[in-house]
Amino acid sequence: MTAASNAERLTQILSDRLAASPEKRLTFAEFMAIALYHPEFGYYSSGQVGIGASGDFFTASSLGADFGELLALQCAEIYAKLAQPQPFYLVEMGAGLGTLAADILQTLSRNHPQVFAATRYIIVEAAPALRDRQQEHLAPWAGKVFWQDWDAIADDAWIGCCFANELVDALPVHRVVKQEGELQELYVTAAAGQWREVAGELSTAAIADYCQLNDLDFSQPEYPEGYSTEINLAAGDWLQQVARKLQRGYLITIDYGYAATRYYNPQRAQGTLQCYYQHRRHTDPYINLGQQDITAHVNFTALQRWGDRLRLPTVGFTQQGLFLMALGLGDRLAALSSGRFDLATIFRRRDALHQLIDPAGLGNFGVLVQAKGMPAEELLQGLREPGR
Ligand SMILES: C[S@@+](CC[C@H](N)C(=O)[O-])C[C@H]1O[C@@H](n2cnc3c(N)ncnc32)[C@H](O)[C@@H]1O
Repeated sequence: MTAASNAERLTQILSDRLAASPEKRLTFAEFMAIALYHPEFGYYSSGQVGIGASGDFFTASSLGADFGELLALQCAEIYAKLAQPQPFYLVEMGAGLGTLAADILQTLSRNHPQVFAATRYIIVEAAPALRDRQQEHLAPWAGKVFWQDWDAIADDAWIGCCFANELVDALPVHRVVKQEGELQELYVTAAAGQWREVAGELSTAAIADYCQLNDLDFSQPEYPEGYSTEINLAAGDWLQQVARKLQRGYLITIDYGYAATRYYNPQRAQGTLQCYYQHRRHTDPYINLGQQDITAHVNFTALQRWGDRLRLPTVGFTQQGLFLMALGLGDRLAALSSGRFDLATIFRRRDALHQLIDPAGLGNFGVLVQAKGMPAEELLQGLREPGR
């Protein structure tokens, strides 16, 4: 199917959903869920998604194998901390093209054969077309990697490490706006063949609960009229699933975002919603339907507070740059000067390594580590001060 007909089908599906809704409006979360995850035509589900140089956006694993290799090192330490469970579950949620999985498995098989032998690598992937691409890419690891849907996973199924790189930012968000001093929800509707936004009462009491959880009171005067932002309730549902399935071990969430005080700073008056289309970033979710990514930054405070309620307390929160340096990225940079590499390799790898720790980019991503059934003082290598 061509991109244009994909967009047409998606427009029709959204219009039908709108017409069938009692008030002729969709929450933004419903709109975003269809645009990204409609089983046939959504951006992710249909396989329109492009990750890497020829796609719409980069992720850490699309820059080269270093990210996966360093994460594998962290997984190997976790295997030891968990007293070498058999099997040792590595659970990747939202695996994109399967690149990170391949890098981690390759590193474990080469450098940590004992961990590799114990590993059962599970991928939980929402998008059918991506699952197909992952299966193709990971064919060399058949018998090691297994795909599972949330519904098919028993509670307490895993002892090991769950992780998600840039998953939470891709979950559908509600959008809210301050109008006449009150918090209202932004809905999507259509008029004269154009998508429009209208404000109305909150669609669910869960938004007020979220505000309370995060100590947010948008009626306060420091929040200007028209202030708008996002509320990611799906992140709470996701975390609840993980907490239920993880019997003992760690959850590592890597993404761009902030603590609630920064995320909901009154000066960030238009929120953090962003769209990516062929490496161009913009803020219009109503164009390039089914052909562009739609994301919102992650509120890490919400993940931490939900985690406290779910017996998944925080072990540490750091920046990706520091996390990777603590796992040895600095040594990799230094090794490039050893004279063992040709000039082209040095330039390419140095650029990739610098991008991973760039404080104005990937290096500033948050890395949240939460744990279940582990002593709170068990600090992981990636959370230690680099060089220790
Ligand atoms: C931005 S991509 C990140 C891909 C990959 N982790 C990487 O770093 O390249 C988001 C991924 O999360 C998947 N996803 C979204 N919601 C999900 C859910 N509820 N459960 C599992 N996967 C999900 C998407 O289909 C996609 O594979």
